[in-house]
Amino acid sequence: MLQTDVLIIGSGIAGLSTGIKLSLLRPDLKIDVLTKVNERESNTSYAQGGVAAVWDHGSDNYEKHIADTLDAGAGLCDEHIVRIVVEEGPTRVEEIIDWGTRFDTDRFKKYDLGREGGHSENRILHYKDLTGWEIQRALSAKAATLKNLTVHEHYFALDLLTQHHLGYIVTKLTPDITCYGAYVLNRQTGEIEKILARNTVLAAGGNGQIYRSTTNPVIATGDGIAMAYRAKVHLENMEFVQFHPTALYNPGLDPQAFLVSEAVRGEGAILKRPDGTEFMHDYDPRGSLAPRDIVARAIDNEMKLAGLEFMCLDCTHIPAEHFIRHFPTIHEKCKSIGIDPAKDLIPVCPACHYMCGGVKVDEYGKTSVNQLFACGECTSTGLHGANRLASNSLLEALVFGHRIAHCIAANIDTAQVPDGIPNWNRTATSKPDEQVLITQSTKELKEVMSSYVGIVRSNKRLERARNRLELLGTETEDLYKNSLVSTQLCELRNLITVGFLVTKAASLRHESRGLHYTTDYPEKADFVQYSII
Ligand code: FAD
Ligand code: SIN
Repeated sequence: MLQTDVLIIGSGIAGLSTGIKLSLLRPDLKIDVLTKVNERESNTSYAQGGVAAVWDHGSDNYEKHIADTLDAGAGLCDEHIVRIVVEEGPTRVEEIIDWGTRFDTDRFKKYDLGREGGHSENRILHYKDLTGWEIQRALSAKAATLKNLTVHEHYFALDLLTQHHLGYIVTKLTPDITCYGAYVLNRQTGEIEKILARNTVLAAGGNGQIYRSTTNPVIATGDGIAMAYRAKVHLENMEFVQFHPTALYNPGLDPQAFLVSEAVRGEGAILKRPDGTEFMHDYDPRGSLAPRDIVARAIDNEMKLAGLEFMCLDCTHIPAEHFIRHFPTIHEKCKSIGIDPAKDLIPVCPACHYMCGGVKVDEYGKTSVNQLFACGECTSTGLHGANRLASNSLLEALVFGHRIAHCIAANIDTAQVPDGIPNWNRTATSKPDEQVLITQSTKELKEVMSSYVGIVRSNKRLERARNRLELLGTETEDLYKNSLVSTQLCELRNLITVGFLVTKAASLRHESRGLHYTTDYPEKADFVQYSII
């Protein structure tokens, strides 16, 4: 058993930036950060395009970034939160520069600002096409210098501790649910440990792995959202799953779809059919740089019309030397599969990329449960609404990490953990003898979600998905109750939970808005509705 002041679940940009800031504000607190694999493996590490922030006050300003964010969000953003993130963002970016993050500069040593879909100005700070890798590197290095912060690798959080574990019946109507830490699987010993904490921060990232094809790494299994759901924390807007329009088409060969950054289109690349004709202007006057939901749907439609599994990105007019300097990783990946971006069209298709909904938090990152905060991709802050504007997610994590750290620093001294929370009960469990039950169910889940709850939905598809997911859920709960806990089994359970929540929220929204498009209700409603679970 470990007793700590602050438990942070996740070591991506959300977890580490919160932990670092808190450590600097309150060196007297003990801060423990958990990560289920190693410190560097996260969605953060794969971010390519960069961080959106108003930097060049000559041509850009806050109002333009706010307007672009609201426009992409299709009427569902919380304008107050958008303003907070846009206006506080640049200072947070300066902080991570002070902590050692590098961004590319031009020959005058000014930051080289890129452009992505839905942005009316160049405002994306980036480090080649490896921005996330660079941020993760710098944050990990900074965290390692802090004496009161410890990162525990290979620790898998299973469930949040609440009054439920003291024997009280906790329902969604219980007014004062409080969080006291988490049960955690130490993957190196196989033991389940109880970590008691006066404050807990969920920063467990996204859930792209609910779909067959995703830009997210295999760790993105929605554990944070599923844990929160089981603890009766309020969730919001789960139907808004973002598909990135341009993952590299390389079927069956990559466990994680390789992203061809939107910044490539920002540098002039154009979406085309394989016969070389452009199509995006048929869908939106902004062409290849329209917001992501529009571009992903257009590509999906063109693929269906042509009976193909990909469309193409034409970069042949971008000078090769410029392309290689800006996008070395993308260039190398294309070359590794025999495509030369200077001569060939790059085959691309949409892949699940980002969860816009999640744990509902207020402007200080507080959830509906006492002593529990949430930050990063597992949250719904109100910034993204029905569709996230490119490169706003790293910014959001930095702004909310800062706010959470300040809120905890000011309030933690009165937080309590009661006596009597029991250790994990291991009785009546045995090793699952048929691993195939887990692997096959994981495949089934991805098939169901990809076929029925993808870019285009309908009542019939959603109903079919719900039925299939209920069966998968029942079978997996049975297995879970009778088996020794393993990471794979818990991840499957969490994936099914999140898949079910996405499907349920999608079924409840009788309109098409942003990332949620259904053929049964193709129009946007003239009133605004948030889906709270
Ligand atoms: P993550 O970085 O995913 O971190 C999650 C952490 O939680 C990990 O440390 C993981 O180990 C841990 N964790 C999860 N479950 C458990 C558990 N059960 N127990 C213990 N630990 C757990 N956004 C932008 O703004 N700009 C971009 O250019 C950009 N490009 C992207 C490119 C790609 C390919 C991808 C996948 C995403 C991109 N995004 C981008 C989105 C952005 O990277 C993510 O939304 C953001 O990094 C999420 O940060 P996070 O800290 O919330 O989660
Ligand atoms: C990209 O580089 O295209 C991804 C940017 C993002 O997801 O914000």
